[in-house]
Amino acid sequence: MLSKQDNELMCRTGPGTPMGDAMRRFWIPVMQLNDLPRPGGDPKAIELLGERFIAWRDDRGRSGLYAEACLHRGASMQLARAEGDGLRCIYHGWKFAVDGTVLETPNVADPKFKSRIKGRTFPVRESGGLLWAYLGPKGKEPAFPEWEFMKQPDAHRINAYAVVNCNYVQVIEGLVDSSHLTVLHSSILAKTNDEQDFDFAKKTTHMQFDATPVIEADETDFGFHYVAIRSLGDQRMARIASFIAPCFIANANGDVMLLIVPVNDHRCNFFHIWWDADKRVGEDPLRTQQLTFVGLDEPTLVKFGMTPETCDGPAAMSWKNGYGQDREQQRIGHFTGLHTFTQEDAGCSISSGPIRDRSQEMLSSADVAITQLYRSLLACARAARDGGDIPALHAEVGRVIGISGEIGPEENWRGLVPHHRIVSSAQANSKARSAVTN
Ligand code: FES
Ligand SMILES: [Fe+2]
Repeated sequence: MLSKQDNELMCRTGPGTPMGDAMRRFWIPVMQLNDLPRPGGDPKAIELLGERFIAWRDDRGRSGLYAEACLHRGASMQLARAEGDGLRCIYHGWKFAVDGTVLETPNVADPKFKSRIKGRTFPVRESGGLLWAYLGPKGKEPAFPEWEFMKQPDAHRINAYAVVNCNYVQVIEGLVDSSHLTVLHSSILAKTNDEQDFDFAKKTTHMQFDATPVIEADETDFGFHYVAIRSLGDQRMARIASFIAPCFIANANGDVMLLIVPVNDHRCNFFHIWWDADKRVGEDPLRTQQLTFVGLDEPTLVKFGMTPETCDGPAAMSWKNGYGQDREQQRIGHFTGLHTFTQEDAGCSISSGPIRDRSQEMLSSADVAITQLYRSLLACARAARDGGDIPALHAEVGRVIGISGEIGPEENWRGLVPHHRIVSSAQANSKARSAVTN
């Protein structure tokens, strides 16, 4: 449970908010590289953390992210002309390169004027199929993360994303909430027994057999990790997922990273990245097979209003259309009547409101990781608000993993992640809960 005040502090990421300031201190994904304009193409407007930006590639292929407002008198750079080596504002013709160099100021007589000013652009990187940006104070960007998926060629990586119409924290909560898998996704997990023969299905099938996993969490230098331990006869299966501040999850399957980036306070981009060093998962048939299985294929995303083009339309999952739930399917045996993983998760996340009221919840022993999530996020927001060091900002995140494995009756699950640096442990819900309010 959180006070309304803490809930606001944690959820709001617009300009000038403490959590927004904290997030802007990290490298965050802006968009998939596939969605960037072609070299020299038309500039593209995007929204991120409640602000609008313009993404563009110059004719040499260099990517750039511009603040929407022109440096001169604020006309939108969405209207700008694409002119090879820079974008030219159509109002008075000031022209800016992707690195902010001012190339021309045609309405100013002094030829040296342009060399004294700098356009409003942000540092960007291209990695792992994504465009990343640093939106914080100049010159203070942290080391760029180096995750395994970034080392894979395109053919060995799947990039996909869904637009989800609720606050980003609600989506992250679902990703550190192992106990819902056995219930919400029960129909899909049952299907994975015999119908599905690919890795994702194999890695999740055991979860249908124990609805009350033991959950424990540790605060770490990068955020936290948590375990869900399920019993299968005399076996114990441990699934460890890591939350990497400010909004990333290394999934327990070990080959999926999930990046949840606020578009604004009521909407987020939910980026998925799978990789496989051996298999060409980025190519068909594996790519389509995987995306269809989890509900991230284009036709399904369009049907449920989870693309940029459809997320404001009538198909977008909402109380008005019953979240697209198929009651007939439910009557004939599907547990939820929602399409598959992505829609089942989104239905629950969206249905609790644009920003869920956490002063009205009843956490249980199943929610240890949820409490730890609040604690990690609030620590970032409070540090930004109070001028302290942002936790996790300088952690070595490249070594952080999610992992699943069998453990012996007395074996400590932390042996699966010996390289994670633990700051403190939260093994009992009451302890974790009081830690949030302290
Ligand atoms: S507002 Fe852009 S050049 Fe004047
Ligand atoms: Fe889920």
